[in-house]
Amino acid sequence: MNIQDFQLKKIQKKNISMLTCYDFPSACIVSESNIDCVLVGDSVAMAVHGHDNTLMATMDMMVLHTNAVARGLKKQFLITDLPFLCHRVSKKDTIENVKRLLQAGANAVKIEGGDADVCKTIAHLVTAGIPVMGHIGLTPQSVHQLGGFKVQGLLEEQAAHFLQQARALEAAGCFAMVIECVPAALAETITNILKIPTIGIGAGSKTNGQVLVWHDLLGIQTTFKPRFIKQYLQAKPLMLEAINRYVEQVINRQFPSLEHAY
Ligand code: KIV
Repeated sequence: MNIQDFQLKKIQKKNISMLTCYDFPSACIVSESNIDCVLVGDSVAMAVHGHDNTLMATMDMMVLHTNAVARGLKKQFLITDLPFLCHRVSKKDTIENVKRLLQAGANAVKIEGGDADVCKTIAHLVTAGIPVMGHIGLTPQSVHQLGGFKVQGLLEEQAAHFLQQARALEAAGCFAMVIECVPAALAETITNILKIPTIGIGAGSKTNGQVLVWHDLLGIQTTFKPRFIKQYLQAKPLMLEAINRYVEQVINRQFPSLEHAY
C-alpha cells in the first residue's frame, strides 16, 4: 500500500481499512491481517497511557510507539499522528518533528484541523515530499474548545465549515482524510466532492474507508463505548479469565507442573 493505492482504491470504489496500533506484538498480528493501513494515533495517550484525552501525547511517545509498530509491520502503510501543537511551531521545528516520525518508520503523518494555518503547514510538508493525511470533524486535540467528545457538524453552518475545510485540505495536498464523528450525510457529501479518499470513524458507511481503535475493535477496553464502536471480539473477559486461571493454579500449586519445570 502506498499513497497512489489510496487514490486507486477511491477510483475503483474499494473501501480502505485502517486500524490503530501502538506496539510491536500487536503490529506483528496486524502484519498478518488484511488491514490496508495502520495508524499510530495520538489516541495512544488514552488507550495505552491511561490519560483522559490525547493532549498528553508527546513527540517522544509517538516516536517510541511508531518505532515499535514499524518493526512489526511488513506490508501495511503506516501513518503517525503529529501530536498536540507539534505542527503549530516554526516551519523548521515542524519539519524536525515530522522528520523524527518518518525516521521512526512512519510512511506519512496525520494532522488534525483544516484552518488556514494548518493548510499552509500541510502544503509546506507536501512540497517537502511528505505524505499528509488530514483529519476533520471531531478533532480530539481540540476537545476543550469543542466542549467534549461529541458529534460535530450538526448545524448547517458547521457543516458548511467542514466542507470548506475538506476542500482546503485537499487543495493543500493531503492524500486522504479522516472524518470523525459527523452526521453520515455530511461525511457522504464531503466524500463525494473530494477526489482524495475519506476514512470515517463515527461518520457512517459512505466514506471511502473506516478506522477503528485497536482496543475498541478487540473489546480490550469496555468502559468507554460510544455508539460508533463495534467490538469484533470481547477480549477483556477472555484475558481476565486467563489471568485468574493462572492465579488459581499458582495458589493450588498446579502451575508450574512437571512439563514446565527443568
Ligand atoms: O488518534 C487516533 O486514534 C485517531 C483515529 C481515531 C482516527 O485519530
